[in-house]
Amino acid sequence: MAVKFKILTLFKEAFTSYLESSIIKRAIEEKKVFIELFDIRDYSTNKHKKVDDTVYGGGPGMLLTLQPLYDAISDVKKDDDLLIFLTPEGQLLNQQKVINYSNECDSFVLVCGKYEGFDARIFKFFDHHKISIGDYILTGGELPALVFIDAVSRYNDALQNDESVGEESFVNGLLEYDQYTKPAEFMGEKVPEVLLSGHHANIQEFRRKSSIVNTYKNRPEMLESAELSRNEHKLVDELRKQIRNKTEAE
Ligand SMILES: C[S@@+](CC[C@H](N)C(=O)[O-])C[C@H]1O[C@@H](n2cnc3c(N)ncnc32)[C@H](O)[C@@H]1O
Repeated sequence: MAVKFKILTLFKEAFTSYLESSIIKRAIEEKKVFIELFDIRDYSTNKHKKVDDTVYGGGPGMLLTLQPLYDAISDVKKDDDLLIFLTPEGQLLNQQKVINYSNECDSFVLVCGKYEGFDARIFKFFDHHKISIGDYILTGGELPALVFIDAVSRYNDALQNDESVGEESFVNGLLEYDQYTKPAEFMGEKVPEVLLSGHHANIQEFRRKSSIVNTYKNRPEMLESAELSRNEHKLVDELRKQIRNKTEAE
């Protein structure tokens, strides 16, 4: 089924170049993904179309004012839409959340903050989710909204044929295995022999092992919750031992 994203922003233009140049572009042309952009400023009843004001209690910066945001959300959000505020105080987006959102919803309203963010009262008026894309602060919610759109669209049924999403990092609690393309040898560096063998079972075994090794080297904490066989646990113990011996030798 197609997926729809309605975006409330003060910077509609921030979306155009990405959405017009990526895989998402084709998905939009093929009517698998629908994007509608709404300018929060259009909803301001202020005669200068003002959308921000100073923070009560003092402090630096400005906040988005309630009126334009409230009216924009009330106008755009229909009953079946899931309302999501992009905000650093939200739940951290990860692959499992992306898959859940993709499975459970096909119409989202994404609200992009700006300046110092939202007046806290906005969260009282509507059922909503809050999503953060990481523990760092960006200048606005536009990049987080694009990240959300890109990630969730890839898991939509309509795009599944276009992308190999089943074996990617995070899907099975591990990082992806090492991959190679032509030529088979470059400046003395060779592609592992097994990948040229055409032996499917051996290739699968190589990839699973490579996946575990990559996870151990780059994100060892992920192995705590990954489902591993007894032999795979032994492999992880072996990797630990190798690292310990190497450190002791140095
Ligand atoms: C400069 S930030 C506001 C930061 C806010 N004063 C704070 O300390 O949490 C402006 C807007 O950018 C967006 N934003 C910034 N970082 C984000 C992140 N990591 N995830 C999601 N949205 C983010 C939000 O929409 C936010 O309202």
